[in-house]
Parts: sequence; C-alpha cells; structure tokens
Amino acid sequence: MKIILLGPPGAGKGTQAQSISKRFQIPHISTGDIFRKNIADGTELGTLAKGYMDKGLLVPDEVTIRMVKGRLSEPDCENGYLLDGFPRTVYQADELGKMLAAEGEAVDTALLIQVPRDFIIDRMTGRRVCPSCGASYHLVYNPPMVKDTCDVCGTKVIQRKDDSIDTVVDRLDIYDRQTEPLIEYYLAKGILRVVDGTQAIPVVFESIVKLLGSKE
Ligand code: AP5
Ligand code: MG
Ligand code: ZN
Repeated sequence: MKIILLGPPGAGKGTQAQSISKRFQIPHISTGDIFRKNIADGTELGTLAKGYMDKGLLVPDEVTIRMVKGRLSEPDCENGYLLDGFPRTVYQADELGKMLAAEGEAVDTALLIQVPRDFIIDRMTGRRVCPSCGASYHLVYNPPMVKDTCDVCGTKVIQRKDDSIDTVVDRLDIYDRQTEPLIEYYLAKGILRVVDGTQAIPVVFESIVKLLGSKE
C-alpha cells in the first residue's frame, strides 16, 4: 500500500497520517518532519533546508528527491508507506513515478484532504508540534492531554517557526502555484480520492479508512 497525502498546509495531513500509519501498519514519511529533524540535529541538510523553510519556500527538488529516495530504500518501506508532504511539485511526482515504475510498482492512492482557505490560518496559528516525534496538536481542536506536553513521548510541544501569519500566507501561495497542480495530475492517473477535511479529526479519519478500505 503506497499512499500519498495531498492538501494545503494545515489541511491535517500530519494529524491523519499518525492514525493511518497505525491502522494500516505502514511508515509515515513526512519530508517536513525529516527536514525539521535535520535542523534540530544541525546537519548540513538541515542548514540548507532551514533557509527555505523559514521563508515558506520549497527546498530544491534535487535535494528533496535524493532524501526521499534514500528513505524509501529502507527496509521498513518494503510493504508500503504513507508519504506526507511529498511530492509537492510535478517534477517530484514524475521522479517518484519513474522510481517506482523501474521496479514495476506505482502509487496506489493519492488522498486529497480538502480544506478551504478560511479554516487554515486558524489551524496553523493554533498548532503546536512535538520537536521530538513530530506529533501535531492544536490549542483548541486537539490539545495534548497534559498541557504543553506531547501525548506520545512526553516532550514539551512548541510552535513551528513557519507557522507565523506572514509565512503561512507565503506557504499557501506556494501551494497554489506549485503543489495544487498535482490534484489534476493524480486525477488524470485515476488514483485521486478526496475527503472533506473540515470535519472533526476522528470523522475525517473514519472517511479515510472507508475510502482506503474499499480500495483493497
Ligand atoms: P510540511 O511540514 O510538510 O508543512 P505543510 O505541508 O505546510 O503542512 P503542514 O504540516 O503545515 O500541515 P498538515 O496538513 O500536516 O496539518 P496538521 O495535521 O499539522 O513542510 C514544511 C516545509 O518543509 C515546507 O514549507 C517546505 O519548505 C519544506 N518541504 C517539505 N516537504 C517538501 C517537499 N516535498 N519539497 C520541497 N520542500 C518541502 O494540522 C494543522 C493544525 O490543524 C494542527 O494544529 C491540527 O491539530 C489541526 N487540525 C488538523 N485536522 C483538524 C480538523 N479536522 N479539525 C480541526 N483541527 C484540525
Ligand atoms: Mg504536516
Ligand atoms: Zn512527541
């Protein structure tokens, strides 16, 4: 099972990915989380990515594709995976498609979490994330059980640097220009599925399970 999650920043990709990964027993691979881990670890890749991420810009395709190819070749990806935040450009999608085709494989489902823009600012500015395991929370819609503390690993949650209002607006703009065309791209391939992401978190998850379940 190879799944791609599509949707604007703040759609709930990371939130749903945590549950999908558990339910379907496939690794959750978030390029944003991998970049953030590299930034926290002070790696060369992290330093490079930070320059783009803090401005809400995309990290260059070649760097991102190389990183993803490395990750997908790890043993836990053998039975499938859930990609969150990749591909994000048509070029990345083509490269992923070529890589899989070389092994006689393909993406099974591109799942779009559809959320109109007026929901997004509120979601992103209220978001808190765990710097250690990447879990995502919201001050109002999905607070941690213990204030400011990650439910999964106990680390103190923080606000992402790129969740400031100005950067959010830039990220939405980049999404419209560079990533939204992927909706048409996967529609044309006949593998696009759409869920309404404006519902409560568990309701969105149930819709996803129904959709993915009915594909098997
Ligand atoms: P990335 O980390 O992927 O950020 P993003 O795509 O902008 O998406 P977000 O993580 O902001 O949103 P999400 O959909 O995961 O929402 P979440 O579940 O947290 O990328 C960051 C940066 O890395 C990029 O800008 C770029 O620079 C770089 N990058 C990453 N991948 C790249 C690539 N492939 N190529 C080049 N550069 C790349 O939810 C948001 C909030 O809403 C949370 O607070 C959550 O609790 C709440 N929420 C979620 N669902 C609901 C709901 N149903 N109801 C109410 N609240 C909800
Ligand atoms: Mg995310
Ligand atoms: Zn955590």
